[in-house]
Order: sequence, then structure tokens, then C-alpha cells
Amino acid sequence: MAVDIISVKDLVKVYGDVRAVDGISFGVEKGEVFAFLGPNGAGKTTTVEIIETIRDATSGDISILGMDVKKNRSEILKRIGVLPQEFSSFDRLTVEETLKYYAALFCTVCDINKLIDLVNLEEHRNKLYINLSGGLKQRVGIAVALVNDPEIIFLDEPTTGLDPRARHDVWEVIKGLKKEGKTVFLTTHYMEEAEVLADYIAIISKGKIIAYGTTTELIDKHFKTVNVTIKGGSAGVGELASKMGMAVQSMNNGNITVEAAGNEQIVEFLNALKANNISYLSMDIRKPNLEDLFLMLTGEALVEQKEAPK
Ligand SMILES: Nc1ncnc2c1ncn2[C@@H]1O[C@H](COP(=O)(O)OP(=O)(O)OP(=O)(O)O)[C@@H](O)[C@H]1O
Ligand SMILES: [Mg+2]
Repeated sequence: MAVDIISVKDLVKVYGDVRAVDGISFGVEKGEVFAFLGPNGAGKTTTVEIIETIRDATSGDISILGMDVKKNRSEILKRIGVLPQEFSSFDRLTVEETLKYYAALFCTVCDINKLIDLVNLEEHRNKLYINLSGGLKQRVGIAVALVNDPEIIFLDEPTTGLDPRARHDVWEVIKGLKKEGKTVFLTTHYMEEAEVLADYIAIISKGKIIAYGTTTELIDKHFKTVNVTIKGGSAGVGELASKMGMAVQSMNNGNITVEAAGNEQIVEFLNALKANNISYLSMDIRKPNLEDLFLMLTGEALVEQKEAPK
């Protein structure tokens, strides 16, 4: 049986009246990309920074690389890499100078060229940090986190505020880290990011883990139906679906979403629409996703409220 490289048991963190982390337990295996998915204020940064030994827990047992976070801080710090939330570096250093500086501080043997290659910054190596786009700055941050060739790398919201293209470029870098055999602990509030990158996802809300598993496990466990949305349908769509035993999930602006048990029921429904002379403009069939799951479990949306890194 694989041994967890990160093990968190009954972690609690209290700040005054706020229970920021409220008794969570989970494990991460070596080589895994693990995502902590949750909205603003859920307790993601607090949790990762306790695992990184930066903050102290109120209570709980946390071990990383087989070591207790309270007892082995300096040894742990040598073997992990951290991209903090809202990373920033020296404005007037180039990419190469930045990495040389951090390498001199933190690494014993360090191949700057390999590092630049890993985060795909070759064509930007002589540009000043201040002149880089948000996405490139985040990639410099990831490279900085890698200077000590860590076994585990923590990325706290690495793509928040980036445009879709820059976000995808960061995703490619993270996929490359997994290929290199690194364990990646990612926090995010982008459901798609967790779906695309993570082997395992823990969904966190108000300090508690409310769901855990692979994307498929999470969806299959919580949803047994597929959503069928009829757009611009003539009268009677909802009544027909109800008569066929299909729940009507939502009705707005002439669009009706009903829940079908599977492909057979979708075909029956379409045939019934035709038999009843019900016309419509378009139809959309969609399996529920993590966003739907979060909404179902919490009644709230995973909303983005962050500014782009400057
Ligand atoms: N140092 C601190 N002192 C007091 N309260 C804090 C501190 N750090 C975090 N909190 C509070 O703890 C809760 C969890 O915050 P945390 O930063 O861990 O959440 P998060 O999931 O990382 O959120 P975000 O997506 O905004 O980064 C919030 O209510 C926050 O205001
Ligand atoms: Mg945070």
C-alpha cells in the first residue's frame, strides 16, 4: 500500500472567533497532483501554510515526507517548494538574475537552464520582472519554488486572475512537474483547473472538506442523472418531462433543464417531444460538473473575486 507523503489528521486553526480550518483530515500520495478546491475564505491558504510549516496549527497532527511539521521545520523546508498566493519578486531583476539570486540562497546544485526550460521562459530570460505579464510572473514564481529541486511543490492559486491563455500555459508547466515525478499540492477556486490537473480533489468550504475523490468519483457518487436543456421550446416541455418521471431542474428565459436517468431516457424524451409536436430551437446535454456539485453541497457558487497579479 502506498504511504502518504502528506498526512493531515483533525487539523483545526482558530483565529480569534474564526474557525478557519475546522477539523479536516486527508492524505496525499507521492507523485500525485492534489487539488484543494474552494471559494474565497474557505481555509485553503491557512491549511497549506500549516503543512509548509509557515503557520502553526491550533490542533491536529500533520506530517510531511514522514516528518512532523512541528519538529522538523528546517529539514522539511529543504525538501519542499512554495509558490505563495500573490507571489511577487524584485522588479528590476531579469528572469535569469532572479533565479540566480534564489538559487544562491536555497540550492546546493542548481541548473538554472533546466529550471528556465521547465517553466518555458527561455525567450524571456533577459526581461525585467516588472515588464512581464501576470502569467509569466507566475511562471517565474514556480521556477523560484523549484530552485531547491523539491520533492513536493505547493502552488497557492497559481492562475488566479490570469487570462485563459496564460492559465493554460501555467497548466502545461504543472503537467510537466508531474511528469518529472514531483508531488504537486495545488489550491484553486477554478473548477476546470482541478478537473484538468488533479488526480485527487478535496472540496473545501468554510473550513471543512465537504467532498473528496477523483472528478469522476465525485460526480458519479453525487449525481445519477444527466441534464438536458431545451432552449426556446414551445409550451408543454416541463409538463411532458414531469409526466415521464423526469425532474425539472430549472426554468428560465424559455429554457428548461430536466434530469434524465441516462441515454435511453434522453431518446424517449426526444421521441415524446416529437410525438407531442413540441418544437424547440436547440438542445444541450451536459453531465453535471464540480461547479454543480459545489452548488448542490453548499447552495453557493464557486465565484471568482480576485484581481489579476500586477
Ligand atoms: N492571519 C490571519 N488572521 C486572522 N484571520 C485569518 C488569517 N488568515 C486567514 N484568516 C481568516 O481565515 C479564513 C480562511 O482564510 P484563508 O486565507 O485560509 O482562505 P482561502 O481559502 O485561502 O481564501 P482565498 O481564496 O481568499 O485565498 C478567512 O475567514 C480569513 O479571513
Ligand atoms: Mg488563499
